[in-house]
Amino acid sequence: MFDQFNRRINYLRISVTDRCNLRCVYCMPEDGIEQIPHNQILTFEEIVEITKLAVKNGFEKVRITGGEPLVRKGIVDLVKMIASIDGIMDFGMTTNGVLLKPFAKPLFDAGLKRINVSLDTLDPGKYKATTRIGNLSDVLEGLEEAKRVGFKPIKLNCVVEQSSAEPDAQAVKSYADENGFIARFIPKMNLDDGIFGVVEGGEGGNCATCNRLRLTANGVIKPCLFSESGYNVRDLGIEKAIEMAIKNKPACGVANRTGEFYNIGG
Ligand code: 5AD
Ligand code: SF4
Repeated sequence: MFDQFNRRINYLRISVTDRCNLRCVYCMPEDGIEQIPHNQILTFEEIVEITKLAVKNGFEKVRITGGEPLVRKGIVDLVKMIASIDGIMDFGMTTNGVLLKPFAKPLFDAGLKRINVSLDTLDPGKYKATTRIGNLSDVLEGLEEAKRVGFKPIKLNCVVEQSSAEPDAQAVKSYADENGFIARFIPKMNLDDGIFGVVEGGEGGNCATCNRLRLTANGVIKPCLFSESGYNVRDLGIEKAIEMAIKNKPACGVANRTGEFYNIGG
């Protein structure tokens, strides 16, 4: 389906949970967040039905996000269910990689082929400081395992202050080159101020060619990361919610005070 600015909307990002096993300083407060009550979280059956109707309406790309998708119970089953939907040309997941070592093989066998892993630094102390909880070694071992089982491409999402010229980003770039991974550099954003930038080496952040809709873990389809509007699939019906989100996708994003990355999936 095309929106009113002639963009072909064919990419659905599905947030399967707002929970996360990290507390990155640029994403979440230390004490965590007010969580969506469990009874409001979409079931796997609902997610699959929404995805099928999106595909019926021309969507071809699907990405699973969070929060941290690997903390959702049964995630491998959901991946299997989505992978078996006819018409999806591109199926990926964005993860912080902490649980990737045990999950890489089951996810790959379930039909996931592409994975994006957050990695801002190769310094274990800085990694701990940024994530408040995480151990860098878990992520590096997870990446090694993902490579071993055959994920391709493996992309690294590296959040930077300004650009990839920063030393931590350069270290991530070298590590990516050595391992056949692709590094992308995401300028630190502030949703309150509407500060966002173009992703170096990726396609996010460029409004003129944005082809995405986002589905939140509690069933709201959002036309834009930087917009407060959203359409609830349970209230409106799935196809109506998709149609309204496309129809109301803004030309370009502005400040968003209701959403953060953890509940709209970055
Ligand atoms: N600015 C830029 N990137 C962010 N992410 C989370 N919060 C921010 C922010 N404030 C990134 C994570 C992850 C992706 C899902 O979003 O690092 O790679
Ligand atoms: Fe979790 Fe990702 Fe937010 Fe970090 S940026 S707290 S890994 S959702």
